[in-house]
Amino acid sequence: MKLTLHIWRQKNARDKGRMVTYQVGGIVEDMSFLEMLDVLNEQLITNNEEPVAFDHDCREGICGACALTVNGIPHGPEKETTICQLHMRHFKDGDTIYIEPFRARAFPVIKDLVVDRSAFDRIMAAGGFVSANTGGVPDANAIPISKFNADKAMDFAACIGCGACVASCKNASAMLFVAAKVSQYAYLPQGQAERKRRVLRMVAQMDKEGFGGCTNQYECEAVCPKGISVAGIALMNRDFLKASLTEE
Ligand code: SF4
Ligand code: FES
Repeated sequence: MKLTLHIWRQKNARDKGRMVTYQVGGIVEDMSFLEMLDVLNEQLITNNEEPVAFDHDCREGICGACALTVNGIPHGPEKETTICQLHMRHFKDGDTIYIEPFRARAFPVIKDLVVDRSAFDRIMAAGGFVSANTGGVPDANAIPISKFNADKAMDFAACIGCGACVASCKNASAMLFVAAKVSQYAYLPQGQAERKRRVLRMVAQMDKEGFGGCTNQYECEAVCPKGISVAGIALMNRDFLKASLTEE
């Protein structure tokens, strides 16, 4: 398979950046999208050119490191699929593909397709944890949790912090990410002790980082590789309101 790639190249955070066109051949349908970029990079290195910088780690859809916008869609065209799990069988020989970094004011480009997503880390540091003593391993089985609540908590805990929700949103809102991180604890007894403080601090940090507000476009849910539901945003908003009125 031969492809024409238009890729965002940007030397560093200060560089203006531009789209550069590459031809790449020898791509087989079983390759992942990142393996296709590996082939391009080998070609560039052979030609003494600078390889394209992009983020990746596990390549198994679990770490959230990979972050690319393919033909305008964060993580590409396949539903609930990270870019590292997207296979080239979804493209055709001769296709033209546009590859850009995740775009958002709070995610500045570091180089080429790599953006700085440390804003997410700071939101987590503001309250995305349980500091109450939850006991030893046997205690986990001693606290009854309904199947409904356990399932809900697990659904929200599936968020891998990739940032596609931000990149897809016209407001660059981080509401789906923060809602997932708030909701995963809101359904568990261990999360109750810091529930109010958590939502107030995480939302305050989200605003501080420069993410926009939610205007119910649902683009975030549409691109989320883990199928996180916008129902979490409603839960977070309810918790935020309650906490604003009652937390001292
Ligand atoms: S909510 Fe979905 S799209 Fe957003 S960071 Fe989590 S996994 Fe990624
Ligand atoms: S590289 Fe880990 S989720 Fe894609």
